[in-house]
Amino acid sequence: EFIRSVLKLHYWVFFLTTLLIFQAEIDVAVQLLLKLKTDYKHLTGQDYKAGCPPPENVVNQDNGAATDGIDEEDNVDPWNVSTSNAKGVDYDKLIVRFGSSKIETELVDRIEKVTGQKPHRFLRRGIFFSHRDMHQVLDAYEKNKSFYLYTGRGPSSEAMHVGHLIPFIFTKWLQDVFDIPLVIQLTDDEKYLWKDLAIEECHRFAVENAKDIIACGFDVNKTFIFSDFDYMGSSPEFYRNVVKIQKHVTYNQVKGIFGFTDSDCIGKISFPAIQAAPSFSNSFPQIFGGRKDVQCLIPCAIDQDPYFRMTRDVAPRIGYPKPALLHSSFFPALQGAQTKMSASDANSSIFLTDTPKQIKNKINKHAFSGGKDTIEEHRKFGGNPDVDVSFMYLTFFLDDDEQLEKIKQDYSSGALLTGELKKILIETLQPMIAQHQERRKQVTEETVKQFMTPRPLNFKL
Ligand code: TRP
Repeated sequence: EFIRSVLKLHYWVFFLTTLLIFQAEIDVAVQLLLKLKTDYKHLTGQDYKAGCPPPENVVNQDNGAATDGIDEEDNVDPWNVSTSNAKGVDYDKLIVRFGSSKIETELVDRIEKVTGQKPHRFLRRGIFFSHRDMHQVLDAYEKNKSFYLYTGRGPSSEAMHVGHLIPFIFTKWLQDVFDIPLVIQLTDDEKYLWKDLAIEECHRFAVENAKDIIACGFDVNKTFIFSDFDYMGSSPEFYRNVVKIQKHVTYNQVKGIFGFTDSDCIGKISFPAIQAAPSFSNSFPQIFGGRKDVQCLIPCAIDQDPYFRMTRDVAPRIGYPKPALLHSSFFPALQGAQTKMSASDANSSIFLTDTPKQIKNKINKHAFSGGKDTIEEHRKFGGNPDVDVSFMYLTFFLDDDEQLEKIKQDYSSGALLTGELKKILIETLQPMIAQHQERRKQVTEETVKQFMTPRPLNFKL
């Protein structure tokens, strides 16, 4: 009888636990359904009705791993970046939305170990904050399997600002510490398709921008810079890859990724294949012989990720390795971190052609301040470095970690005033820009031609 009641008890305990687990699962499912319904409403503007398929013209614009639903604050695609948050875009959310991986301290330490070099400040400070497959690249590199770098720029005007230099400064560092070849795509065709510019203008901007890029210090023996208009027409291998990619991506896919509509010209719709092609080593036979298996690593701003999500999706289907990626956050406009800088608004940024006086005036006049309205209040309550553009700029350009930390402490405590903080930034940027201008002056037409001529590069894989 005793044994019977123990068994009975067991039975009931088992039954009740199962019931509880079920209940928990139902709760999770209900939550998920609720979230799906609100996401549905965000996307379509209509309430969800069971059994009714969504209208045809509805597409999820960001097509990433849409696990976080739709973000109301942030808007990030290759042509627009905006947010309503003064601290800037929420990058952690973006990682979830795009389905990339966060650059953790562990990865930064690993890069330090593999290269034997102190990590660049952009890595130390999370300015490059997200990646795809970087661990894989390092695994292979440790086994003496090398890789190449690919980055680019859309030459939409002659004027480049400091924000444009971020990927190039970082790429130059990667080239130095890993000692690897680099290709730089100037998408003059993209700018012709997207902007109201003539082909000749876009091509001229490409060559002018190449000078600023070269002034970042790239090694001519390891770097190939190309204009799409020039190189695409001259390289059968490059064009073959473009067409291969075009054959393996549907209109529906690019519509989903880039938000193209029926009234976009067909040039735009097929352009993503052209930005994808340099991710494959056999697009550059003069550099890699016929090899199609050399791994590519792309440092870029996070807004370029849609192109490379598409690239990574097609790669295995056309027999190529997927490119790895390192993503940077955006360089904020002087007016605040809500948008990235615009080359068309002279007061939104520091241009590479600005004089010391212009730099000083722009920062003093336009750099959004996290300081208090009066000196008394500032001394009492301190400033907010998280929304202060001058402080943000210093995190990009002041290399000394200790000095930066001290500035942060002093600004937060009120010991450092906004004017004093701005002065530090001005004195950091003035010599930096002057040196850039000096190096750019040294870049002759002959040097540009050297960089832009298809030729073998000097490296071993
Ligand atoms: N589309 C980019 C722009 O408008 C230019 C670009 C081409 C690029 N290929 C790239 C940027 C690779 C980063 C990495 O600026």
